[in-house]
Amino acid sequence: KPEGLRDVFKDNFLIGAALNVNQILEKDSVQSALIASEFNSVTPENVMKSMLIHPQKDTFNFEIPDKLVALAEKNDMHVQGHTLVWHSQLSPFFKEITDSTEMVEVLTNHINTIVGRYKGKIDAWDVVNEALNDDGTLRKTVFLDVLGEDYLSLVFKIAEKVDPNVELYYNDYSMTNPSKRAGAIKMIKRMQELGTKVNGIGMQGHWDLDTPSLEEIEKSIVDYADLGIKVAITELDVSVIPMPWDFTGADVNVKFESGDATMNPYPNKLPDSIQVKLANRYADIFKLFLKHQDKISRVTLWGVNDGESWKNDWPINGRTNYPLLFDRNNGKKKAYYSIVNLKADS
Ligand code: G3I
Repeated sequence: KPEGLRDVFKDNFLIGAALNVNQILEKDSVQSALIASEFNSVTPENVMKSMLIHPQKDTFNFEIPDKLVALAEKNDMHVQGHTLVWHSQLSPFFKEITDSTEMVEVLTNHINTIVGRYKGKIDAWDVVNEALNDDGTLRKTVFLDVLGEDYLSLVFKIAEKVDPNVELYYNDYSMTNPSKRAGAIKMIKRMQELGTKVNGIGMQGHWDLDTPSLEEIEKSIVDYADLGIKVAITELDVSVIPMPWDFTGADVNVKFESGDATMNPYPNKLPDSIQVKLANRYADIFKLFLKHQDKISRVTLWGVNDGESWKNDWPINGRTNYPLLFDRNNGKKKAYYSIVNLKADS
């Protein structure tokens, strides 16, 4: 009898979570046990971003990243490195570079040192993150400015050289948006023409209850897979922002003092009616993932429980959100059961 999501979906795709520092350090034994039993893939939510892992030209912080890799090894998990080249949370020294030779040197040192350290231990890297604008053009970053549009191929090739066996992904959000999708496809094709190895594309799943549509999600999975690469659903969370009046159900009775619903610290437990909406949405998207399981390598949730989700502070600090499969007490939500039941029914 399957015990956790990793067992439930073992014949379909990897099922992962992004881990924060406390989770990597196993501060909470209940949650550590839950992570070990539910997931077979982990992504560091922040600690492998350049600003944290490589804050100064000659300084690398490997202590916590090493612990993530050890945790994964202990629990027989896939490790997704996140992320080598990203304009955000970028170490300041990159931003000062204006000369292309120097940029290549610094990037080579960055990638060689990090990918090299985890050779054979990290299974796949998000080599480049969020390089595209919503209209499908390349985002203006220091990398584009200094190296030109083929910087993507350049960094993928550096990574491949250090660890020829590691899988190399391009990861981005709004990948279901038609113009961005067209831009992503063009970008990957260009890399393929240049002989660059790209193993997969990561579609970040920062989605809502109604958007993107199932049609756009499906079209995106199919079109990306047509490039001959794997598709991963990365960073999945479904934003749920209740209104104060949603909480006047039988099981909760909360007074709202502020007129701004989004600023209130809401209770742990979502009213059942909204939990059902979330559960239906998760079931719909997982149905699609199962339908296209031949194309999908991995589905990663962006966090473990609602309390730790980045969505609580975005775009307004302190906003309460309920986007994940576990509630603030690590209890399984209806959304959890809705995806498990898809398999029980089949
Ligand atoms: O750890 C410090 C803490 O010491 C300090 O007191 C506090 C004050 O602001 O900041 C803490 O760092 C924060 C960090 O998360 C850890 O919680 C940063 O400010 C905050 O910016 C950072 O946010 C992360 C965000 O990326 C940064 O862009 C989120 O946790 C993380 O979930 C989010 O993840 C990104 C993916 O990497 C790429 N795709 C989008 C996704 C969501 O934005």
